[in-house]
Amino acid sequence: MAKALQSLLFYLITSACMISLMFAQDQFEYYNFSKANLSLDGMATILPNGLLQLTNKTALKTGHAFYKVPIEFNSSSSTSAESLSFSTEFAFAIVPENGSLGQGMAFVVSPTPDLSYGGASSFLGFVNTRTNNKTDTHILAIELDTNGSAEADEKSGNHVGIDVNGIFSVASDNASYFNGTEGKNNTLVLANGRSILIWIEYDGIDKLNVTLAPVPTTKPGSPFLSKFIKPSLPLLSRTINISEIFMERMFVGFSGSTGTLTSNQYILGWSFKKGGKAESLDMSKFPNPPVSSPPSKSKSKSLQIIVPTISTIVLLLILGGAIYLYKKKKYAEVLEQWEKEYSPQRLSFRTLFKATKGFKENRLLGAGGFGKVYKGELPSGIQIAVKRVSHDVEQGMQQYVAEVASMGRLRHKNLVQLLGYCRRKGELLLVYDYMPNGSLDDYLFNTQNPKSLSLSQRFHIVKGVASALLYLHEDWEQVVLHRDIKASNILLDANLNGKLGDFGLARFHDRGMNIEATRVVGTIGYMAPELTAMGVATTWTDVYAFGAFMLEVVCGRRPVDPDKPREEMILIKWVATCGKNGVLMDTVDSKLEGNFSAKEAELLLKLGMLCSQSNPENRPSMRQMIQYLEGNASIPDISFDTYEFGIPNIRERNNETGTTQTTTSSLANFSYDTVTVLFGGR
Ligand SMILES: *[C@@H]1O[C@H](CO)[C@@H](O)[C@H](O)[C@H]1NC(C)=O
Ligand SMILES: *[C@@H]1O[C@H](CO)[C@@H](O)[C@H](O)[C@H]1NC(C)=O
Ligand SMILES: *[C@@H]1O[C@H](CO)[C@@H](O)[C@H](O)[C@H]1NC(C)=O
Ligand SMILES: *[C@@H]1O[C@H](CO)[C@@H](O)[C@H](O)[C@H]1NC(C)=O
Ligand SMILES: *[C@@H]1O[C@H](CO)[C@@H](O)[C@H](O)[C@H]1NC(C)=O
Ligand SMILES: *[C@@H]1O[C@H](CO)[C@@H](O)[C@H](O)[C@H]1NC(C)=O
Ligand SMILES: *[C@@H]1O[C@H](CO)[C@@H](O)[C@H](O)[C@H]1NC(C)=O
Ligand SMILES: *[C@@H]1O[C@H](CO)[C@@H](O)[C@H](O)[C@H]1NC(C)=O
Ligand SMILES: *[C@@H]1O[C@H](CO)[C@@H](O)[C@H](O)[C@H]1NC(C)=O
Ligand SMILES: *[C@@H]1O[C@H](CO)[C@@H](O)[C@H](O)[C@H]1NC(C)=O
Ligand SMILES: *[C@@H]1O[C@H](CO)[C@@H](O)[C@H](O)[C@H]1NC(C)=O
Ligand SMILES: *[C@@H]1O[C@H](CO)[C@@H](O)[C@H](O)[C@H]1NC(C)=O
Repeated sequence: MAKALQSLLFYLITSACMISLMFAQDQFEYYNFSKANLSLDGMATILPNGLLQLTNKTALKTGHAFYKVPIEFNSSSSTSAESLSFSTEFAFAIVPENGSLGQGMAFVVSPTPDLSYGGASSFLGFVNTRTNNKTDTHILAIELDTNGSAEADEKSGNHVGIDVNGIFSVASDNASYFNGTEGKNNTLVLANGRSILIWIEYDGIDKLNVTLAPVPTTKPGSPFLSKFIKPSLPLLSRTINISEIFMERMFVGFSGSTGTLTSNQYILGWSFKKGGKAESLDMSKFPNPPVSSPPSKSKSKSLQIIVPTISTIVLLLILGGAIYLYKKKKYAEVLEQWEKEYSPQRLSFRTLFKATKGFKENRLLGAGGFGKVYKGELPSGIQIAVKRVSHDVEQGMQQYVAEVASMGRLRHKNLVQLLGYCRRKGELLLVYDYMPNGSLDDYLFNTQNPKSLSLSQRFHIVKGVASALLYLHEDWEQVVLHRDIKASNILLDANLNGKLGDFGLARFHDRGMNIEATRVVGTIGYMAPELTAMGVATTWTDVYAFGAFMLEVVCGRRPVDPDKPREEMILIKWVATCGKNGVLMDTVDSKLEGNFSAKEAELLLKLGMLCSQSNPENRPSMRQMIQYLEGNASIPDISFDTYEFGIPNIRERNNETGTTQTTTSSLANFSYDTVTVLFGGR
């Protein structure tokens, strides 16, 4: 009994420690080491451009840089994973000196930031003959060895190792990284001056993982593309009992050394986090590493060599010029002075051309009112969807690009992320995250699609879209209207989360036409009556479209369906009629075969109808909508009298004076493309 009480007490204390430790997380992220809280010694120095240099060409010396603030690893108090786990990502470059690769460097976790006693050469500066391979050294190091030396008992240079209490690796392998696309390991040369990313992760229980990857050479201009996706397989994955190595307070940092041969070692960026995953490094923020001084050349060159050399060079220049001109035309873009400030969001046409393999037909994902969409892959491995939108008019372009740039800053888990743009003559290219499951309308309306969605999956999608719309309407720095909410603009990610896409595109379409008259863009059936009548888009018109979207999701059919019997043709009208007759559930998608929660279906139908009211002010806001969907508020009573609803007025529109449409609205060839409606008169 006493024993049980004791263990209960122990449990309570340890969990209390765990909680307090969870709050004491240490993390940082550096790109400019001038601002970093580091203690340096030996050759280590911070260059004016913010680069951390560990070693220079002085032979047989060391350099250290440690984060000044100790990290608490209270291994004695608790065995919880949280208290021991850590992860770090950094980018380094080892620039050979006179063709020599130098000795190498290491990421070090040490009980002291003062490792000035560490030996040069193969000791890599973190141990010496006295401390090497001693249990009271308490050092964990990840070595990046460019010289397989006899002392370390490792034959091959260019390897990565996990070292415990010394330079003898408990695990090591030749430097390489796993390329998921090719499904194989590619060798990586540590010391050729190129920048390399490395991730070191310890889960706090047993596995210590080390993963490497090269920083892409074509430095992407866009901040959105600048986070490199870590290769899916680590180079080293090794069981380590960290509590046997670490003391309570440890310092993290780097150690490098030179032997008789030297190299310049640099750190470009570093992020660290205790108790979780370190922030991914943004490669666009890296300073440029200096390049190696070219080996000096002999000056005695005879004329016999020079003349043919020059003529070859001239020939090559002409050939190069021709190729250059050809490529320039092929990849020509429009870039104006005012666009300079948006350069981070700008992607080169060449990149997009290569990413989509030249906009090949087999990469075509779809084509709609706005243009064609292609699938592509960037050199960093990120999958993208590229939308090519044609435009004829330059007018308003500047404002539109400004909007694209600000849209790129929108971040919400239920918005399709806009990654960047590119502009060519007569054409705008928008680059989005690729969504593997395509668009929602394919699930709802494509009878060929074998996959279908249950009502609760649909409910989940609606909730996601609602939260994205709330973000656009109320939670961002300015009000953003979507203007074209419909099932075909909702994309599904791998986990069938709904993501709202194509925001603001309607606006572009709007500007793309050079007609003086007032015009409004949207899709018939989703356009609120006041929008088609007065041409003013508001958050209420978005809510109306969202309502039409909810109804189409539950009913599994479009807002206007000319193939249906007359009384069912217009969805709102039909739902209202069924509601009035007390047979609301008759409207639910027959493909569900009755397998659905009537409560969920009723909620969606009623909410859809609330949004469809003809008086905009009666429609709920997106914030209220979320509360209704989450079940945190009960929805107001709703009468199903048809006159209250903004019924799409398909037939009559043609007869209205002075009002025309760009697409035909005769029901026979009714299309669900986005349209522009023009207003002649005032
Ligand atoms: C290398 O670094 C040390 C210490 O910062 C400095 O004294 C030395 O002059 C440097 N050597 C070269 C060649 O830059
Ligand atoms: C790094 O910070 C220093 C000092 O704040 C500054 O002078 C330098 O310009 C910065 N370098 C970069 C590349 O931002
Ligand atoms: C830098 O490290 C010192 C030593 O631990 C610490 O006292 C100081 O608060 C740190 N400064 C910053 C800005 O983190
Ligand atoms: C670490 O845990 C031990 C034992 O529970 C405790 O005595 C000590 O104060 C803790 N140290 C820190 C820095 O939290
Ligand atoms: C590198 O090469 C230069 C020129 O050949 C020479 O003067 C210098 O001593 C060399 N440095 C080292 C470290 O070998
Ligand atoms: C390290 O020391 C242990 C004993 O403490 C010994 O068994 C082992 O062989 C040593 N490793 C090397 C590589 O010398
Ligand atoms: C590493 O590369 C060397 C040659 O550079 C080769 O001899 C050795 O077998 C490789 N080691 C491993 C573990 O692949
Ligand atoms: C380490 O790698 C292994 C094997 O790939 C993986 O199962 C494990 O989740 C990884 N651990 C961490 C902390 O990344
Ligand atoms: C790539 O390297 C990793 C780590 O060394 C290894 O687990 C994996 O089997 C290798 N894959 C291939 C295809 O060689
Ligand atoms: C890890 O080491 C600690 C301290 O030596 C020990 O108490 C613990 O049992 C070890 N854990 C494992 C999983 O071996
Ligand atoms: C390793 O360094 C030693 C002396 O510093 C040098 O003689 C040897 O050539 C180097 N080996 C490699 C593989 O670079
Ligand atoms: C992976 O392999 C593919 C196909 O060869 C290549 O296009 C891509 O650049 C490679 N990725 C990396 C990060 O090296």
